[in-house]
Amino acid sequence: MSEAILLVGGKGTRLRPLTTHTPKPLLRVAGVPFLTHQLARAAEAGVTRLVLATSYLAELFRAEYGDGSPLGLELVYAEEAVPLGTGGAIRNAAELLTCGPDEPVFVFNGDILSGVDLAGLRDAHAASGAAVTLHLTRVEDPRAFGLVPTDGQGRVLAFLEKPQTEAEIITDQINAGCYVFTRSVIDTIPAGREVSVERETFPALLASGALVNGVVEDSYWLDLGTPQAFVRGSADLVRGVVSSPALPGPTGEALVLPGAVVDPGARLAGGTVVCEGAVIEAGAVVHASVVLPGARIAARGSVRDSVVGAHAAIGEDSSLRSAVVGDGAVIGPDNELTAGLRIDCGVRLPARAVRVSAAPAALAS
Ligand code: GDD
Ligand code: MG
Repeated sequence: MSEAILLVGGKGTRLRPLTTHTPKPLLRVAGVPFLTHQLARAAEAGVTRLVLATSYLAELFRAEYGDGSPLGLELVYAEEAVPLGTGGAIRNAAELLTCGPDEPVFVFNGDILSGVDLAGLRDAHAASGAAVTLHLTRVEDPRAFGLVPTDGQGRVLAFLEKPQTEAEIITDQINAGCYVFTRSVIDTIPAGREVSVERETFPALLASGALVNGVVEDSYWLDLGTPQAFVRGSADLVRGVVSSPALPGPTGEALVLPGAVVDPGARLAGGTVVCEGAVIEAGAVVHASVVLPGARIAARGSVRDSVVGAHAAIGEDSSLRSAVVGDGAVIGPDNELTAGLRIDCGVRLPARAVRVSAAPAALAS
């Protein structure tokens, strides 16, 4: 029996308008809710009981997964009336754990696509006797993450969340959002108030002299928090660059779910996924993109590195480049939406309204 906590209470603001009606972990990535990939990997690594720490749009998680039995997991739900922050959420969710004080508990951020060896991380934790073991990865630009320098033995020396100055960038090793906690350590997090595990709990553990270890692993790793990362993660899953036990089809240049209609004269490539009920008309080219359920791309549409929301429609001869079209939006013919442009849910754009995007804020909410 092995237990885990998965943090899914964030608002996903950087992914708006996609997260207007759907919490970030339930957005469809390579055809299934992103969380399904994470849950399947946890189950594969031997997790048997998992607490989902919910807050924003909490009821949607229970509706999607119920008791978890189809995934071979026992799923239970902890709900925060007001968001408690990452540490507060872990503490609150721990009320639903059943393991003893010395047992290891996995804790996962809910937006990480990764190929990390989970069983290996748990073994490293058991072997070292650490209070917490962190998966660390290396990134080119660490500013948006938690910086975690370690010594030669992997002992964590500091934890610097979202460094503000160049001088603070002392390593390219970052917190990859996957931890093994010894259960009793979670119980020391204060209950009933907001706590950041990154800004409060980890620095306090280090200050107290507790052993916190980092395991640097350079397997595939991506935080799906931005639209660019979201489409890349989906395309990488479809193409098999990173594997998932939950991929609903064979890997390849495109994944077309049952119930989607793709004209033989359309071209799909780059790891595109077309969800059920979506229609791609003749002459359309869709590259490395996510086409959500019921969306329509009309004849000769050109879509690249973009997300087309559920039941959204892209008019004839329109093109999207690194753009996000919200659920139910209608883009008239002959528009050109380029990098960073986000169209809010339900917006109707007439023909030729946008030929080359100006400031991204112009049409977004
Ligand atoms: N239940 C609950 N309650 N969950 C929360 C809350 C809360 O109040 N706040 C955030 N979360 C969840 C989010 O849903 C997400 O799954 C996870 O906690 C991390 O939040 P993000 O908002 O995605 O944080 P981040 O990406 O800026 O930074 C975190 O992840 C980086 C790796 O991607 C930090 O842990 C960094 O240190 C880390 O490098
Ligand atoms: Mg994140």
